Amino acid sequence: MKINILTIFPEMFAPLTESMLGKAVEKCILEFNIVDIRDYSTNKHNKTDDYPFGGGQGMVFMPQPVFDAIRAIESDEESSQIAKRRIYLSPRGRMLDMTLAEELSVEEEITLLCGHYEGVDQRILDTWDFEEVSIGDYILTGGELAAMVLIDTFARMIPGVLSAKESAFDESIYSGLLEYPQYTQPRDFEGLRVPEVLLSGNHKNIDLWRFEQSLILTKERRPDLFQAFLAKVAPADKKAPRPQDCVELSKDERKVLEKIRD
Ligand code: ADE
Repeated sequence: MKINILTIFPEMFAPLTESMLGKAVEKCILEFNIVDIRDYSTNKHNKTDDYPFGGGQGMVFMPQPVFDAIRAIESDEESSQIAKRRIYLSPRGRMLDMTLAEELSVEEEITLLCGHYEGVDQRILDTWDFEEVSIGDYILTGGELAAMVLIDTFARMIPGVLSAKESAFDESIYSGLLEYPQYTQPRDFEGLRVPEVLLSGNHKNIDLWRFEQSLILTKERRPDLFQAFLAKVAPADKKAPRPQDCVELSKDERKVLEKIRD
């Protein structure tokens, strides 16, 4: 997948060459094209913003440098053939979630626009058909960090980005639940002991304990996710109709769920 990033702070994207994303670039699964909007300004001081018409605080990205940057990216022969999604990172956009991440992970090319100041001239968004995406109900100083969060979220779903062991899609009973607590060596650290069940070697009990912990945490911290999980659980009656993508539970798992639910 090719990801074009339009920004006035290209150096902020250094983390994309690290870790799993950096490896995905080496494997040619991902390609980042980081474009400095300033390079396209026709203004003699490379200005990219100006005061908003109608007054108000802050500055607004002018259309000219952004239009020319997009034209330059999309004029290359390969890119012009591809229907691409253009996304403007903005607190007024569609909230990022796993559904949106999954949608983006199958695109061939995506263009991200990182705004600053008070925003961008609306004609940029209207003319180039930008979707707006928010990463949360808070205001960042610019779109760069939001773009990196968005990229990280969908990139891990692209086949080959994670190793086989770290599947992005959890199809187990834990799907949609918060993760259970993990422990490693030593068994006793300054008197803080690892739960006995994890040292027992009894994998059935370990799995049930982990399932129970996930349920407890999810019910406590994210009652919305807990309710969504309950709706996905297949009915105990094997002959009853199954909801789509339902979760099948064993008798013991069902007992654990009933204990936590009540
Ligand atoms: N730009 C500033 N704040 C943002 C947010 N919460 N999400 C996406 N882009 C932003």
